Amino acid sequence: MKFLQSVGNEMPSAIIADIGCGNGKYLKVLPQNVYGIGIDFSENLIDIVQRRKLEGLVGDALVAPFGDDSFDAVISIAVLHHISTQCRRLEAIKELIRICKSYDPQSNVCGRILICAWALEQEDDSKHQFDKEDVFVPWALDKKYVTPQFWEKLNQNENENINSQTKECPSDQSNNNNTALPSMALIEDPLKNVITFQRYCHVYRKGELEHLLQTVAHVVNFPSDPNSHKLPKQFRVEVLRSFFNKGNWCVEIRKLDVIKKKKKKAQILKKIFDSKFLAIKHKC
Ligand SMILES: C[S@@+](CC[C@H](N)C(=O)[O-])C[C@H]1O[C@@H](n2cnc3c(N)ncnc32)[C@H](O)[C@@H]1O
Repeated sequence: MKFLQSVGNEMPSAIIADIGCGNGKYLKVLPQNVYGIGIDFSENLIDIVQRRKLEGLVGDALVAPFGDDSFDAVISIAVLHHISTQCRRLEAIKELIRICKSYDPQSNVCGRILICAWALEQEDDSKHQFDKEDVFVPWALDKKYVTPQFWEKLNQNENENINSQTKECPSDQSNNNNTALPSMALIEDPLKNVITFQRYCHVYRKGELEHLLQTVAHVVNFPSDPNSHKLPKQFRVEVLRSFFNKGNWCVEIRKLDVIKKKKKKAQILKKIFDSKFLAIKHKC
């Protein structure tokens, strides 16, 4: 993947987080000087990641188990379209920015984040065509794989998914419908040897990812969006590129800095200055 290569080229060594890493597809192809760690809330997939001798742990993208400013770069590929409310999508994007370091050319921190999610607009030859954003996408599985253990794991994953989807969403001030939807529905066709799962997806219109970004962060190279002022913004980011890739909308951003911290620093400096000024005034 070009993004991973360019992170490897930009820095002598880098640490990258893959949020919603699945079976570790991207962790497997990191350049040699890039160390990666993935999280996914599917235990099954993390088992696969670990069996492939890659670094992965079970975790929720909405509350990523990492500290602020931990990674040189962060990726979220094909995850955001599984998250079923606007508020939770915003939380997920905020987490990607929170755990990424800010750009610092002096210490060689690239501070880049790549987000890709399924697009509403598909090429004519795509096997998926969507007429609205909130859709169920069929996933047919041969009955021979649908064992009691499969159901057990699936129920467990589904409960985790529902728990994550119903996580309290404090920043929810939008007027969108924020009722979490089940991630799967099921159709069994007795005539066929398959069980079809209907998986929930929210597919993205052109520009929608950028709009979400503007809601959670101050995007320096975009005119401010009057509808996105309601949320307090913690970060400053820059959009490096927005593009369409194989049925997905992608946006690559750079985290510039943390607005809150900057303010705090300024307040502390002002306090020090004021107290010194008062002391001098007093002496005079
Ligand atoms: C379509 S797969 C993409 C996997 C991988 N990023 C790739 O491109 O190969 C979506 C992944 O997102 C994970 N996922 C969805 N919602 C998540 C959440 N809230 N937290 C962590 N992982 C999540 C799913 O378990 C699944 O592995």
